[in-house]
Amino acid sequence: MNETQAKSRRGTFLVVDDEPDILDAIARLFRRDYHVLTAQSVKQARKLIEEHDVEVVMTDQRMPEMTGIQFLSELRRTHPHIVRVLFTGYSNISDVIDAINEGHVYRYISKPWKPVELRLFVAQAFEHFRTQRERDRLLEQLQSANEQLEHQNALLSAANEELKILDRVKSVFMEIVSHELNTPIAILVGYTYLLRKELGDQLPSVARKALSGIDTSSVRLKNISNRIFKMLDDDGAHTTLELEWIDIAKFVDSLCEQIDPFLEERGQSLDIDIGTGAEHILADEDKLHDLCLNLLMNAIKFSYDGQTIALQIAKCNDEQVAITVRDFGVGIPDEDVSQIFDVFFSTFNSGHHSSGQFEFQKRGIGLGLAVAKRFAEMHGGRIQVESKEGKGSHFTVYLPTHPEQPEVSPLPQRVPSHHVPH
Ligand SMILES: Nc1ncnc2c1ncn2[C@@H]1O[C@H](COP(=O)(O)OP(=O)(O)OP(=O)(O)O)[C@@H](O)[C@H]1O
Ligand SMILES: [Mg+2]
Repeated sequence: MNETQAKSRRGTFLVVDDEPDILDAIARLFRRDYHVLTAQSVKQARKLIEEHDVEVVMTDQRMPEMTGIQFLSELRRTHPHIVRVLFTGYSNISDVIDAINEGHVYRYISKPWKPVELRLFVAQAFEHFRTQRERDRLLEQLQSANEQLEHQNALLSAANEELKILDRVKSVFMEIVSHELNTPIAILVGYTYLLRKELGDQLPSVARKALSGIDTSSVRLKNISNRIFKMLDDDGAHTTLELEWIDIAKFVDSLCEQIDPFLEERGQSLDIDIGTGAEHILADEDKLHDLCLNLLMNAIKFSYDGQTIALQIAKCNDEQVAITVRDFGVGIPDEDVSQIFDVFFSTFNSGHHSSGQFEFQKRGIGLGLAVAKRFAEMHGGRIQVESKEGKGSHFTVYLPTHPEQPEVSPLPQRVPSHHVPH
């Protein structure tokens, strides 16, 4: 350790007195314990204070330019962290007491002093300095922690406000979807039906074609509106489970009835495997149907023409059954896998994106998997995916064999979800 380092580890002690002998005696007394600086005048003391990191100043009361108390009061304003002590040889004690009471001076010692007393006195002054510095440091930490807390609080209340607004927007949107949108759609569907029924044969082929276009589009519109409505409906029938024993063979038949036309269009086939022990499952049939249909429709859309898709329902053990939908289609890029269960996540591609239901890579609005996940979780189950881009995907839903009516968990923050598939 060099001299400078050694000095900096010791506290710096400035002694001010116009008598060189006293300065010399004190410097010698404290040389080993502190980095001692001495000044014979206030002017010199000020200079040393600017140049060094002084912790304790001890000054004589009687100085030529000003009294020790005056100097220490000045120091209190300019360098409040320095501990100020006074020594005095004559007995103007009432001034000293006033100065201490007013906080200009930390302590005073009267001359002549015993070296032991002076040592103790100075040691206490340095201890006081350290305690104060530690207190300031802790206060600073506290203040910065407080500021952080205030900042977090502000963020939280902003987020809360945003949520409230979103909630209001959602209610208004629900109103619009349930009434403003559904009513005209119902009228459209009704009139096209009526027109076709009453005038079907008499209509020229171009009008029949237009009618069929209106028909298909309004049904599609109705489907989308239904899905959004069900997705946003937090308190409706879609938050409770209606558990019943499902005959899986019949259940799969009804799924096939719905997807067969699409499989046929795409020249694809479905390989079905119902394992022993999985002939009956206790679940909410509508939700399980939606869930499987979403997975199967995705498998159809993201497989190539002519490929086979596999549906397997099997008992894993006494507690769980697994429903697996496997395809050998385009697969999912690694960077998308973590997001595919998010509401409205759909890998948008203007070339492919349209309201197509089963055509190759026709993305929808990105509700299917979010709803599948929610329905699985409502049963106390979970859904998991394994996929490799270019090789295909493998979705597995694990359901408990004896699900309980769950407490409905809050919906994903951004957008809640219920979904009826195509
Ligand atoms: N079997 C699959 N193979 C490849 N990608 C898939 C598969 N299933 C889902 N994806 C990807 O995950 C995205 C989200 O799927 P999800 O079913 O939620 O939405 P969607 O099918 O696009 O629309 P929706 O189901 O609402 O009509 C899809 O857009 C697609 O990019
Ligand atoms: Mg889908």
